[in-house]
Amino acid sequence: MKVLLFGKNGQVGWELQRSLAPLGEIVALGSGSEELCGNLTNLEGVARTVRAVVPDVIVNAAAYTAVDKAESEGELARTINAAAPGVLAREARRCGAWMVHYSTDYVFDGSGDRPWTETDPTGPLNVYGRTKLEGEQAVIAGGCRHLIFRTSWVYGTRGANFAGTILRLAREREALTVIDDQFGAPTGAELLADVTAHALRAVFNNPDLGGLYHLAAGGETSWHGYAVFILEYARRAGMKLAASPETVAPVPTSDFPLPARRPHNSRLNTAKLQAAFGLNLPHWQTGARRMLTETLEAQS
Ligand SMILES: NC(=O)c1ccc[n+]([C@@H]2O[C@H](COP(=O)([O-])OP(=O)(O)OC[C@H]3O[C@@H](n4cnc5c(N)ncnc54)[C@H](OP(=O)(O)O)[C@@H]3O)[C@@H](O)[C@H]2O)c1
Repeated sequence: MKVLLFGKNGQVGWELQRSLAPLGEIVALGSGSEELCGNLTNLEGVARTVRAVVPDVIVNAAAYTAVDKAESEGELARTINAAAPGVLAREARRCGAWMVHYSTDYVFDGSGDRPWTETDPTGPLNVYGRTKLEGEQAVIAGGCRHLIFRTSWVYGTRGANFAGTILRLAREREALTVIDDQFGAPTGAELLADVTAHALRAVFNNPDLGGLYHLAAGGETSWHGYAVFILEYARRAGMKLAASPETVAPVPTSDFPLPARRPHNSRLNTAKLQAAFGLNLPHWQTGARRMLTETLEAQS
C-alpha cells in the first residue's frame, strides 16, 4: 500500500504521518518539497507527482487556511482549495487511487442551532468557505473513489492554536474578552488522523462506504466556554496566570470585527460517520485535556 500525503507540515498532516504509517509506505510532501512537487499552486507539478508515485491513496491535508487573508487573496485560495483538489481527484481516478480530502463547517451559513448534516444546504459566508465548498465539488466531479471529511475548530499540539493564544494572553492580562455566540466542537488533529486511518481500512474492505462525512469531536461549546475550560485546566495544573476563568468576559462576534464573516453555528452532526464506521467520537473535552497537558508540559 502506497499513500501520497500532501500538506505533511500542517496540524492534520503532521498527525497523519503518524496514523497512516501502519498502512504502508508514506510519501509525505509539504509545499516546499523539492524532489517531488507538493505545492498545490503548481497544478501540473502535483499531477506529475501523482503519476510518478502511482499511489493507492492520495491524502490531501494541504489547504489555504488563512480565513481572513482569503478575503483579499481569493484567487490563490481558490487554486489551493479547489483547483488543486480537482487535479488530484482526476489523477486519483486515472491511477485507480482513493482520495481523502478535508473540508469545513464554513461551507454552511451558520444559521440556527441544529448540528448540520451532510445533506443540509450549503451557503458559505466567506471566501475561504466558498473555495472549500468548490474543493469538495471538484473532488466529487474528479470521479475518483473518495472520502471527504468536513470538520471544525481544529487544534494540534504543533504550531499556533487557540489554547496557546489564550494561555499567552492570560499570562499578560488580568481580564480577557472571548466570543460567546459561535458554537462548535474543538477537534483534535490527532482524532482526525486516527479516524482517517480507521476509515481507510474500512473502505478498502467495503468501497461503498466512500463519500462525504461530518467528523468532529462530541459535544459543543462556544469560544468563551473553551477559553474558560483552558484556564480552569491551567489553574488546576498550578500555572501562574494574571487572568482567571472568572475574568474571561463573554462578548458577541460583533465586538471583534474581522475581514471574513464567521458562522455562529459550527455544530456538525456526525451520526452518519459513527454509524458507517462503527465509531464513538469522544467528547471534545477528552482531546482538549490531552492537548492542554502536552501544551503545559512544553511551556514549563
Ligand atoms: N484549522 C481548522 O480549524 C480547520 C477547520 C475546519 C477544516 N479544516 C480543514 O482541515 C484541513 C487541515 O487543516 P489544518 O488545520 O491542518 O491546516 P494548517 O495547519 O493550516 O495546515 C495547512 C497546510 O497546508 C499547506 N499549504 C498551504 N499552502 C500550500 C500550497 N500552496 N501547497 C501545498 N501545501 C500548502 C501548509 O503547508 P506549508 O506549511 O508546507 O506551506 C500547511 O502545512 C484543511 O483542509 C482545512 O481546510 C481546518
